[in-house]
Amino acid sequence: MKKYLITGCAGFIGSNFVYYMLRKYEDILLVNLDKLTYAGNLENLKGTEGDSRHVFVQGDICDKALVTELFQKYDFDYVINFAAESHVDRSIANPEIFVETNVLGTVTLLQCAKEAWYNTEARTWKDGTKYLQVSTDEVYGALGTEGYFMETTPLNPHSPYSSSKASADHFVQAFHDTYGMPINITRCSNNYGPYQFPEKLIPLMIHNVKQHKPLPVYGDGMQIRDWLYVEDHCKAIDMVVNGGKIGEVYNVGAHNERPNILIVKTVIEQLRNRLRDDSITEDLIRHVEDRLGHDRRYGIDPTKIKNDLGWYPETPFERGIVLTIDWYLQNEEWMNHVTSGNYQKYYEAMYKGK
Ligand SMILES: NC(=O)c1ccc[n+]([C@@H]2O[C@H](COP(=O)([O-])OP(=O)(O)OC[C@H]3O[C@@H](n4cnc5c(N)ncnc54)[C@H](O)[C@@H]3O)[C@@H](O)[C@H]2O)c1
Repeated sequence: MKKYLITGCAGFIGSNFVYYMLRKYEDILLVNLDKLTYAGNLENLKGTEGDSRHVFVQGDICDKALVTELFQKYDFDYVINFAAESHVDRSIANPEIFVETNVLGTVTLLQCAKEAWYNTEARTWKDGTKYLQVSTDEVYGALGTEGYFMETTPLNPHSPYSSSKASADHFVQAFHDTYGMPINITRCSNNYGPYQFPEKLIPLMIHNVKQHKPLPVYGDGMQIRDWLYVEDHCKAIDMVVNGGKIGEVYNVGAHNERPNILIVKTVIEQLRNRLRDDSITEDLIRHVEDRLGHDRRYGIDPTKIKNDLGWYPETPFERGIVLTIDWYLQNEEWMNHVTSGNYQKYYEAMYKGK
């Protein structure tokens, strides 16, 4: 049985990854270490209750004693680090916590993995182990109107968020280059799908449209992102953990570049039709002052992961956005709890005294 330490999996992508892995593998153990920041929500993991293949531990990836204890208790084969402060706007307001979690937290995990897996005398690594860092295309900086980010594109981050993620990537690479640590790094484009915190573009727009609230769009809304359905990202991570060549970086993207304003207009149109409400129109859009240092375009070249591992995005945007809107319409209670802050009481209710 393969044993995974997965971090930050009460968040958006991590919780989707837990479901993906539990659906795919019978014989697996996922130990999920999450601090439960504002972005971590145990309600995302409701579907795992009673499943002994998933163990939730509340804690900080910067807590070396705790991570060491988990390694001793579970003898992990793999570490997959999803845990991060992930919102660019928050990083502009408060960069320090991004350095703590995204950089220091990553180094703590690397150190603990090294202590557990590395034989210092023989200078060998325990067979079959791997550390995978879940990174982002934002580490590459911005593109002009042409070209794509390749794995060889130099890192050139602009925001405090992307700078902290780039720094973490350098540490992961350094552990490979210095000690020979078995690692991979995945760099993925913008994800969308179920369980995304409604501070991010698509769930925010769905939430506001439903309430006929104004839809804030940064600047002219012509910032271009490559949108990938979250399940396709989960599939990529699983393929890289299990088949990725040691030491390699893999870019993950869908060649689905769209400007933000088009995403907003798509959400409006979908919800107007679905809710049969003609008062849902583009008049709800409000252009607001652009984000500081807002990158204009990201675009991923996913040729390497396609050629080497056979990965491809299965969900076209037209289907993914329908699935996503369906999910948010069917999970009103989840959205109400998140937007009211009530989800933070769920942990207490579920785990108090246990
Ligand atoms: N969302 C995207 O579009 C996207 C795209 C590419 C890469 N990524 C990367 O994927 C990862 C997951 O992103 P997400 O969108 O699911 O983020 P998220 O903000 O939804 O979730 C982050 C999770 O990490 C936890 N966490 C934060 N600090 C922690 C700490 N110190 N110790 C333990 N847990 C902590 C939070 O409680 C939360 O559950 C991040 O590393 C992010 O950089 C995200």
